[in-house]
Amino acid sequence: MIEAWLEDRRLGREQDEAALRGFVQGVLDGSVTRAQAAAWLAFVCLRGMSRCETAALTRAMLESGERLTWPGIEGRRLDKHSTGGVGDKVSLVLAPVWAALGRRVPMLSGRGLGITGGTLDKVESIPGFRTDLDPSELHRVLKEAGCFISGQTERLVPADRVLYALRDETGTVASVPLITASILSKKLAEDLQELVLDVKFGSGAFMPDRERAAELTDSLVETGRAFGLEIRAFLTPMDRPLGRTVGNALEVAEAEAALAGEGPEDLRDLVLRLSGAPEEAARALDDGRARECWERMVRAQGGRPEEERRRPELGRAPLRAPRSGRFLGFDARAAGRAAFLLGAGRRRAGEAVDPDVGLLLEAAPGDEVSAGQPLAFLVHAGGRGLGEARAALEAGLLWEEGREEGL
Ligand code: URA
Repeated sequence: MIEAWLEDRRLGREQDEAALRGFVQGVLDGSVTRAQAAAWLAFVCLRGMSRCETAALTRAMLESGERLTWPGIEGRRLDKHSTGGVGDKVSLVLAPVWAALGRRVPMLSGRGLGITGGTLDKVESIPGFRTDLDPSELHRVLKEAGCFISGQTERLVPADRVLYALRDETGTVASVPLITASILSKKLAEDLQELVLDVKFGSGAFMPDRERAAELTDSLVETGRAFGLEIRAFLTPMDRPLGRTVGNALEVAEAEAALAGEGPEDLRDLVLRLSGAPEEAARALDDGRARECWERMVRAQGGRPEEERRRPELGRAPLRAPRSGRFLGFDARAAGRAAFLLGAGRRRAGEAVDPDVGLLLEAAPGDEVSAGQPLAFLVHAGGRGLGEARAALEAGLLWEEGREEGL
């Protein structure tokens, strides 16, 4: 017979804080079975949840594990969350920019899945860089460098780990209240005062539809504010890759160029917008302070950036323009897929990624190009996935008259 709490969910009846807390605890201690939890998730996915329930679920998840605290560390603590995209290396630049401005950035990030890159995969392409810091190491790095980029610790929001895996398995990831509770419970466990949200829409985004992305933004903002977090939210397009690189080490190199006051304009512009203090942030990028914070963080997390990986099998294959004309760029989804096929991404959680492969996008959207000119280079490891990746990238070529047919 169906339990009353599950029946309430099935009928879309409001569950109170105690019921939601009981569910989360039950998922962790096994008194709620996997089948019950999967049904509960499916009901939420189909029937939704009120804002009040979303906040209560967030609280129950947050309280399912330990929370980080930062005794003795001065400065306003903030972090940024992006729903992820293709070539999105903003975190690598923004965290040290904020640190240079005297803020403190305890950034816990995730790994990529499918076409979406993950910040942890990017920083792990730096030889020696550790992302498994324990709370006392996190404290030390935050104090020394003003920022860290690390993975979830074992004991932080364990309910999310269990529920997220179940959502992935049962196709119930795409639910605004479940995403809200998942993201915010983890961010709240970092003990922040401010959170900046970069919610993406467009072909390369987790939620391509702008209206759905806006709905998620509203839910995140309202729920976060109920916890006293100051939130600034941005809804930004992800229909072209951000910057000119896609792939882990390639993106780190591009982020380092941006930290030296160089690098592509779209990346710098987005970093400055999200920073909340564009003029100060621009100064920190141009005068080397942001770069110093980055280097301090890399060292403090064990990174040895001077160490080269010797990989004679790495090669660069050009993708040449099949025609002359005004090039409008690569579709983000196609570029993400091409990088994934070269080995930069993973199909399933737990799989390894190749740190060095990916795309170098030579031509910029809006360039006039000539037939035969290289538009991009596919950086591959001994030809792995090259044919398929090239086909994927070619299918995403955009021209002024629209998508090129027959490629
Ligand atoms: N990222 C998260 O951390 N959780 C979600 O549910 C979706 C994206």
